[in-house]
Amino acid sequence: MIGIGIEQYGNEHKLKEVRVPTPPVGPEDLLITIKASGVNPVDWKVREGLLKQDFPYELPLILGWDGAGKVAAVGSNVQEFQVGDDVFFRPEMEKQGTYADEIVVPADLVAPMPGGLSYEEAASLPLVGLTVWQALVEEGNVQPGDKVLVLAGSGGIGSVAIQLAKALGAYAATTTSSKNIDFVRNLGADEVLAYDLDGGMDTTTRFDFMLDTMGGRAYGDALLLMRPHATIATLISDRDAVRPEIADELEQELSLTVKFVFTRPDGRNMNRLRELVEAGKVKPVVTEVYPLTVEGAVQAHLSSQTGRTRGKIVLSREQA
Ligand SMILES: NC(=O)c1ccc[n+]([C@@H]2O[C@H](COP(=O)([O-])OP(=O)(O)OC[C@H]3O[C@@H](n4cnc5c(N)ncnc54)[C@H](OP(=O)(O)O)[C@@H]3O)[C@@H](O)[C@H]2O)c1
Repeated sequence: MIGIGIEQYGNEHKLKEVRVPTPPVGPEDLLITIKASGVNPVDWKVREGLLKQDFPYELPLILGWDGAGKVAAVGSNVQEFQVGDDVFFRPEMEKQGTYADEIVVPADLVAPMPGGLSYEEAASLPLVGLTVWQALVEEGNVQPGDKVLVLAGSGGIGSVAIQLAKALGAYAATTTSSKNIDFVRNLGADEVLAYDLDGGMDTTTRFDFMLDTMGGRAYGDALLLMRPHATIATLISDRDAVRPEIADELEQELSLTVKFVFTRPDGRNMNRLRELVEAGKVKPVVTEVYPLTVEGAVQAHLSSQTGRTRGKIVLSREQA
């Protein structure tokens, strides 16, 4: 594999071209020629060494865990895929990533690419799509008519979470800064809470489910809007944000169920995501595409690190 990654943890200047041996294609595996890779905040968090405890990587490490491409070889036991198929996938985070020319992935983590999407659009979906599916459907059991609150609806996770909540028949509200009000409305939000406007978080709605993508103060403020016995799926651990003091008290007082979700790679969930895209219920929201080069990855990381990007950032091999 030739890709963009790190030999040492650190800032964006540590990104460089990295070569590691491509593992053999096992009987259950696919070899995939990568065409595009999604970029997620976890990529620069890994680069900085913030996830060393959870993922004790051996360096060099190719970054990125979100991809779309073409099947180049098929393991002897794999029935579902053929050489030449277009696929999208979120590989195992413990292994080498998708800012690369090729990757070996267990076939049961992979799904056919949704019809009508470019590789860049398809590569933007696996990690955020799996995360919101696992949070809203598996952990949240969101039902038609439920009132769902998505924190940061304009971000990579939020932009798909709003669409999934609507696809499930729920009422979707989201927090955002005022500059992104139209953006989240266009994604289907029924109610917009602009955290930077006076009174922007005022609402009489009380929510059955919250997807927490922020932690910290934003989480504390949103807890005030939950109904008793509601469920919260949080993507944020203590290393991401300081837990607000008010959280313990409010979670107890309202008897809230709080579940931490860390995305699990899963081909069956990928197929549900493909069906939602093909039914027109979830659309990829790609706002920035950079070439899959060292310079492109540096630009993508700098942009992601601002915490202000809309929708998704993607690295494209075609543009490299
Ligand atoms: N546990 C897991 O498995 C998992 C999976 C995926 C992601 N995550 C984590 O979830 C977080 C979100 O990921 P992401 O990909 O959505 O990030 P992202 O795309 O970088 O999010 C950027 C968005 O956040 C919005 N934002 C920033 N501060 C806000 C606030 N106080 N209130 C409302 N919106 C705010 C910004 O909009 P404005 O400029 O309008 O504020 C921007 O559009 C990251 O920390 C990521 O690491 C965890």
